[in-house]
Amino acid sequence: MADPKKLFIKTYGCQMNVYDSERMAEVLGAEGYEQTQAMEEADMILLNTCHIREKAAEKVYSELGRLRPLKDEKPDLKIGVAGCVAQAEGEEIMRRQPLVDLVVGPQAYHRLPSLLAKTGTGQSALDTDFPEEDKFDHMPARPKATARPTAFLTVQEGCDKFCAFCVVPYTRGAEVSRPASRVLREAQNLVDRGVREITLLGQNVNAYHGHEKGLAGLIWALAKIDGLDRIRFTTSHPNDMDDALIDAFGTCDKLMPYLHLPVQSGSDRILKAMNRKHTADIYLRLIERIRTARPDLLLSGDFIVGFPGETDQDFEDTMSLVREVHYGQAYSFKYSPRPGTPAAEKAAVDDSVAQDRLHQLQALLSEQQYQTQASMVGRTVKVLFEKTGRQEGQLIGKSDYLHAVHVNAPTTDIGTIQTVQIVENATNSLAGQLA
Ligand code: SAH
Ligand code: SF4
Ligand code: F3S
Repeated sequence: MADPKKLFIKTYGCQMNVYDSERMAEVLGAEGYEQTQAMEEADMILLNTCHIREKAAEKVYSELGRLRPLKDEKPDLKIGVAGCVAQAEGEEIMRRQPLVDLVVGPQAYHRLPSLLAKTGTGQSALDTDFPEEDKFDHMPARPKATARPTAFLTVQEGCDKFCAFCVVPYTRGAEVSRPASRVLREAQNLVDRGVREITLLGQNVNAYHGHEKGLAGLIWALAKIDGLDRIRFTTSHPNDMDDALIDAFGTCDKLMPYLHLPVQSGSDRILKAMNRKHTADIYLRLIERIRTARPDLLLSGDFIVGFPGETDQDFEDTMSLVREVHYGQAYSFKYSPRPGTPAAEKAAVDDSVAQDRLHQLQALLSEQQYQTQASMVGRTVKVLFEKTGRQEGQLIGKSDYLHAVHVNAPTTDIGTIQTVQIVENATNSLAGQLA
């Protein structure tokens, strides 16, 4: 048999892209490609791209520029662009970068084999359709034995919310949920391969409707799988946090006490302009209810500063919302105008003002993250060990609250959940001892 061809995938953007990259590797595995971590030895390079902010999209073009010498050296090398930049700018990529052999949008990954067959034939190897058929039904069953005890599982894709700043509704299309039966089958399959923690993914995962009782119904069904110990989900929209889901945080032992619930801004005026369809107060009351169900929940969020029209007072409202909520961790971004979105038509906030606000917000969020971590010291938590650490004899795992924890423990503990006492707070992780 011929040597397997080598595939190198570079993934940008969100966890959904991480999951999609794994699935694309599986589809191409069936075509004789084996994954490599070394770009230089690849026969095919796939960039799985993100379009969310301008910087993210620019990275693709600069990366493609860097691939030129490799392609010159190895004319048979195939270069593909997948993901959200492919969806948004597919034809432009083909035009601007003749070294690109194929372009595939996020809903067409199952068609990679036929696209691959078109490369080098003079036919256009571009597919950015939103096909009727479900791509997951047309992909090979997950063949690879996963070496890790944690896995992502996409259950919902697309977004119907149309926040005024966001490209996702355009790059990922309308909201679609995978039927619960398929999700359960895939989860069982992962657990059979040693996975103990599953993170359910969706651009709006709590709008999931593939189970008659929504995301909470799916979580309860998953909780019945023996050997699956932890369930998480991301990303949620405040308007889709229903009572059953809130209740599950208090009643489902396998649902971990961590929630990423972006609010973007604390100003009602800006929230309205963003088309978020809720006020700051609705969000704050929602947080109260979730914390009543699960008092120790660690809350995470996303923020945008410098949205068109944001005044000093609007920004102050964001700062006071953050002070009131107290986040365990969060992401914050300077607004980036995206072509085709309604907000991109509006006058921008002065860049130095936006930059200054971003610094202020990040300082506050870092302080809250530090305090949250510091409050863990002395506590006993459960840690699922995932891999070896940099130091000899050290393992890294995640606590229930998703903190990375370093512990001296034997490698045989990888894949197990142990009780750990937290002894120290480092910058982005905690140190602990087996209890
Ligand atoms: N579906 C998720 C988030 C998807 S994008 C949700 O609704 O919460 C992830 C984050 O990127 C968003 O929460 C937002 O904070 C940020 N983001 C999206 N578009 C952006 C833009 N044009 N400029 C800056 N940040 C943006
Ligand atoms: Fe984008 Fe808003 Fe949809 Fe999130 S809810 S993906 S921010 S449009
Ligand atoms: Fe980026 Fe697409 Fe995810 S734009 S954040 S990769 S959905």
